[in-house]
Amino acid sequence: MTKEKKILTLAGDGIGPEVMEQALHVLDWVQENSNLSFVVEKDLVGGAAIDANGVPLTEEVIAKAKAADAVLFGSVGGPKWEKVGFDKRPEVGIIGLRKELGLFANLRSAIVFDSLVGASTVKPEIIQGLDLMIVRESTGGVYFGEPRGIETLPDGTRKGVNTEVYTSVEIERIARVAFELARQRQNRVCSVEKCNVMESGLLWKEVVTELHQKEYSDVQLSHMLADNCAMQLVRNPKQFDTILTGNLFGDILSDLAAMLTGSLGMLPSATLGARQENGVIPALYEPIHGSAPDIAGQGKANPLAQILSLAMMLRYSFDEQAISEKVVHACEAVLNQGLRTPDIMSDGMKLVGTEDMGKAVLAELKK
Ligand code: IPM
Ligand code: MG
Repeated sequence: MTKEKKILTLAGDGIGPEVMEQALHVLDWVQENSNLSFVVEKDLVGGAAIDANGVPLTEEVIAKAKAADAVLFGSVGGPKWEKVGFDKRPEVGIIGLRKELGLFANLRSAIVFDSLVGASTVKPEIIQGLDLMIVRESTGGVYFGEPRGIETLPDGTRKGVNTEVYTSVEIERIARVAFELARQRQNRVCSVEKCNVMESGLLWKEVVTELHQKEYSDVQLSHMLADNCAMQLVRNPKQFDTILTGNLFGDILSDLAAMLTGSLGMLPSATLGARQENGVIPALYEPIHGSAPDIAGQGKANPLAQILSLAMMLRYSFDEQAISEKVVHACEAVLNQGLRTPDIMSDGMKLVGTEDMGKAVLAELKK
């Protein structure tokens, strides 16, 4: 029996549309070679939506995203929209979707492919074989906390305010995701906060510890301050299996972890919500990299993170482990053949553009 799945694609800005195009070719292949069938709808988000509709995220797109089985997202932002109002900037496209769909669990893995060990700026022995997962809370913390804003004080000087807020409920549900994931990995969670200066961090540590004692004592739990974690990630990243952290620390640490692997152009992510009554888990899949406006439209962008995001979608939303792994292996195989986009180029390798990289992945899949 064919399973029909509704996918909303939001390619966004910059290199988003170019890399999305390659991922959609892979999606076609999946459709032809599995019992899945897809209804793909495309829409605008971020700067592209601002140009067309005046806002980065329309109600219509939110409704379509809610009705979809999964959202495949590109990237948003660019200098063209630097002057639009703060509440209308392209980034509201992604942040708004996370909030509207309740996508509180952002899973960001950093995996070093053997053939790319040399592409990292970090010594090979430090990163070879690295496979870590950052579980980042993504609908709370300082990104959403109130009060927020910029105000002018009586003396004419100005004040900018953002507030880090976490409730025990928010902490517990993201901690649960990390513990569950860790059980399928090396069974180790490192919970990261700044409990030495922040009450929200203190509560974070307490709630994670309690939940661990009550329900997950089989998982190995440790705690680390966020600044130390940044340092440890560079010093000895292989000490980590699953890192559990809040929105802002997760944003920073995931860029750091991604760069250990050689290029932001390689890493996918999944952002998941709570299972709904109809059984669907709201989900959005996106590369960790941004819209890279400096190389947009030049056919240079690395499409692998977008293709690997699609692989994550097959696995987490559609429960298609085998075909998901096939896609991942195809990406690995083209790297083993020596094909490289500029972001991961090194001596002796063959430089290719976005389209040729996409075609090579397809050719692998068709073998
Ligand atoms: C990310 C990005 C976003 C974030 C931006 C684009 C708002 O940096 O997904 O990591 O800060 O969450
Ligand atoms: Mg980020």
